[in-house]
Amino acid sequence: MWPVSRNRITRASTTIERQPRASALVLRLPTVFRIHPAVDPAVDPSVRPANSPRTKKMDLHQITRISSFSNLYSDRTLFPSGDRGYIQFEFGAPSPALLQTASAIFQEATARKLSKPDAGLAFQYGPKLGDSEFRSELARFLANEYGSPVEANHLAVTSGASQSFSNLITMFTTSATRILIEDPTYFLALRVLQDHGFQERDFVSVPVESGGISLQILEERLKELSSSVDQQAFAGQPAKKFPFLLFTIPDYSNPTGQSMPLDKRIRLIELARKYDVLIICDDVYPLLGYPGAEPNPPRLIALEHQVRSETDFGNVISNCSFSKIFAPGARLGWVEASPAIIKRHETFWVLYSGGSPNHLTSGIMTEIIQTGKLKTYIAQLRETYSHNAEVTYETLRLHGEGLGMRIEKPKGGFFIWIEFPSHVNTHALYQQLKQKEAAGTSNTRVSFAPGLIFTTVQGRYLNCLRLSIAHYDAEELREGARRLCRAVKELLDI
Ligand SMILES: Cc1ncc(COP(=O)(O)O)c(C=O)c1O
Repeated sequence: MWPVSRNRITRASTTIERQPRASALVLRLPTVFRIHPAVDPAVDPSVRPANSPRTKKMDLHQITRISSFSNLYSDRTLFPSGDRGYIQFEFGAPSPALLQTASAIFQEATARKLSKPDAGLAFQYGPKLGDSEFRSELARFLANEYGSPVEANHLAVTSGASQSFSNLITMFTTSATRILIEDPTYFLALRVLQDHGFQERDFVSVPVESGGISLQILEERLKELSSSVDQQAFAGQPAKKFPFLLFTIPDYSNPTGQSMPLDKRIRLIELARKYDVLIICDDVYPLLGYPGAEPNPPRLIALEHQVRSETDFGNVISNCSFSKIFAPGARLGWVEASPAIIKRHETFWVLYSGGSPNHLTSGIMTEIIQTGKLKTYIAQLRETYSHNAEVTYETLRLHGEGLGMRIEKPKGGFFIWIEFPSHVNTHALYQQLKQKEAAGTSNTRVSFAPGLIFTTVQGRYLNCLRLSIAHYDAEELREGARRLCRAVKELLDI
């Protein structure tokens, strides 16, 4: 997807690193370099030195970014308006029609669960790691779907990937942990990190290149940062804390839709073990590979299981969810990790206090798995999303001719990422479309997620945007893609 060689990235990074502020330089770089300006904590004041307090006063640059973000994605704009005539490609959520099917499945499973003699137990606090029958059924189901072994004692139940990510940050980081972010990334993961006091200046951005995260830049960053790690801050902890956390979405990424190749997955695990990095894989999409498309390599956690010894703590957590494979409203998910990481969940006070997250729903999900309904439903999702992606992609190619769009056809998941030539500012387009919509003067009635929200580095991805193919049916998506092309043409006056 990115036609940028490693040498070019390195050259671009070096050029930028010599400058006092990466962001100030961005506008003067040719587009091809603009994609990957590296942030060097040694010279960039927006990166916090190890152990400096997180409460340091924000500079104006940062305030601007945070507030422009929250204006863009307030509650009003994050959820669908309900007006199906206005096609809002930004919604990474299933369509109402699919959720009707999920609702019928859930209703039937609930009736079955509650007719059992011990139904009352489902309303009790659950075991900290989750109901054992659910964990066993889930392990069996996942092993079958992934085609690689999954053990119940490697699983802990969660109430979805977002809540779980927050819990994992609490469990495994300190204020001295350095946060490495694959760039571009899921924009709300950055906000969850902010909830924990990490600020944008704490994020060390590692660009995605063709075929996933740049491991060369990642290793450079790790080498540089390792020398400043305060070992004391990590040595005396009662439970394991990591000096580094890497957040990555290796399968059908949000926002790019791309997946990490096998060689990178293997090398990434090696780097994590060498530098004591906790890799949190946001694995909410791996089960949504499209029928007929080449399957993805094994997940990082499956690869780690192969090399981890019994005594290793483990460096990989697969953070998973039923939101994308069943229904977001179910608020149910799981983590898969080494026994030591799972055991740490048992001593997490939140789980002591509240027991298994979403215990009742996990009991109902056990029924849904046992009756084969989950398998059938996921197969339906794969067919639907594959068709939706195909229709959207082909329409963009047809009606976007002459716009210079770069698009890669997705092989799974929810998203299509579009890169326009550098003079197309998708943020300006987004704002224009929203304003016209609010004023009732829009003749295009379409919107999308602009590229700038997916990065921690100001100036990146201004010429990119993300489309979700999950929320509308194929005809609506076809119409939306046509409208989008028209809107870009109007913006460019062509
Ligand atoms: C990459 C990614 N992670 C997490 C989530 C949210 O997951 P959950 O609903 O399980 O909290 C989303 C939803 O859009 C997502 O795209």
